[in-house]
Amino acid sequence: MVVRVAFLAPHYPAEMPRFVRALAEQGAEVIGVSDVPVAQLGDAARYLSRYVKTDSSLSDEARAHAELLPVLRALAPDQIEAQWEPIVLLAAGLRDALGLGGMSRDTVLGFRDKQLMKERLAAAGVRVPKSARATPGDELRDAVERIGLPVVVKPIAGAGTTDTFLVRDRAELERVVASVAHVPALIVEEFIAGEELTYDTVCVDGTPVFDSVAQYFPKPLESRTQEWISPGQIVFRDPHAQPELAPGIALGRQVLAALGMQTGFTHMEWFRTARGEAVFGEIASRAPGAKLVDQMNWANDFDVFRGWAQAFLDGSFREVAHRRFHVACVFKRALGRGRITQIVGLHQLRAALGPHIAEEALLPIGTPRRDWRNTLLSDGWIAVRHPDLATCRRMMQTIVDDLKLYAE
Ligand SMILES: Nc1ncnc2c1ncn2[C@@H]1O[C@H](COP(=O)(O)OP(=O)(O)O)[C@@H](O)[C@H]1O
Ligand SMILES: [Mg+2]
Repeated sequence: MVVRVAFLAPHYPAEMPRFVRALAEQGAEVIGVSDVPVAQLGDAARYLSRYVKTDSSLSDEARAHAELLPVLRALAPDQIEAQWEPIVLLAAGLRDALGLGGMSRDTVLGFRDKQLMKERLAAAGVRVPKSARATPGDELRDAVERIGLPVVVKPIAGAGTTDTFLVRDRAELERVVASVAHVPALIVEEFIAGEELTYDTVCVDGTPVFDSVAQYFPKPLESRTQEWISPGQIVFRDPHAQPELAPGIALGRQVLAALGMQTGFTHMEWFRTARGEAVFGEIASRAPGAKLVDQMNWANDFDVFRGWAQAFLDGSFREVAHRRFHVACVFKRALGRGRITQIVGLHQLRAALGPHIAEEALLPIGTPRRDWRNTLLSDGWIAVRHPDLATCRRMMQTIVDDLKLYAE
């Protein structure tokens, strides 16, 4: 029997057409649902049996839910899916309302509301940063007082490090109080010093059938607030072969169980303290963005989109993770404003790293720069892979140091 899947936002972010394609190739009938004209669906369109365009924005959960409920009731999908953070609750609420299986809205809320997430985890004995919910203004000041400086202030339901601030002293607090006045609900967290890593999985009924660990260089809070940084990240070849990653994997599994994960992608972030302890950061019930899924594919010489689709449709992940390469990706930001005018060091880089380059996607000369604050992809990227970690790290550093983009 053909499984009919309603997939929300099949065109955005950039990886979505590949999720849709994998579902279609595994035999599903995919109905696309989004708020853009059909012409904007791009590549996704060819894998859809039909397209439902909403009048309401998909990020307006209440309105989109009301508009979509009768439409989807008539189309009778077997599943409703979303892989984009701002709409995972909309998908879950529609599943609930139509009595479909899959994760409930309440379960998904535990992956979306950063305070509820921590309360559920703390109740299950997981080490989480001290935290408190707050509205902007005096409630925020009080929460900071209770938690104690230094703290991180961020939206309760954020993504991409938007409106996220480190507060070290009172002067900084007052600046941040002004900067977050427009954010309706905030969380204040104890600042955790350490390195920042991920624990990413595809799960079937709560059990990881594939998992992967990546590390950010530097932490997103730093790379997202300082323009001169070229953010890098490494997906490790085999997380189970590196003992220093074991506390993060154990933490991740505890978190998945405590939050009631069922089937699908997850993306968790954790901190490794100087003592090697793993402290929970956050978790989402969707795939990570910013090239991490591609890096998993290059690390394993497999197709995790296909494996995910198999897991989603019939509960069996049949792709084999070969665990062959460490994969580094560096996002480059041009120096200057305007259009890219010059790329320096690329020929030398190609000569030095040639066979190890998995993807080169720098913005061509003449293209306008992307707004570095609003994109994780900066002005393009280069990904490299190598079986040896030290070599992979050196290659990453070469791309950071020796490749320069200029704009004017
Ligand atoms: N408690 C914390 N201690 C230290 N750094 C933090 C803390 N919370 C967030 N950060 C930093 O801010 C970034 C964004 O916060 P996160 O909770 O991951 O939100 P988002 O959903 O925007 O990714 C993190 O990747 C991390 O670098
Ligand atoms: Mg995050």
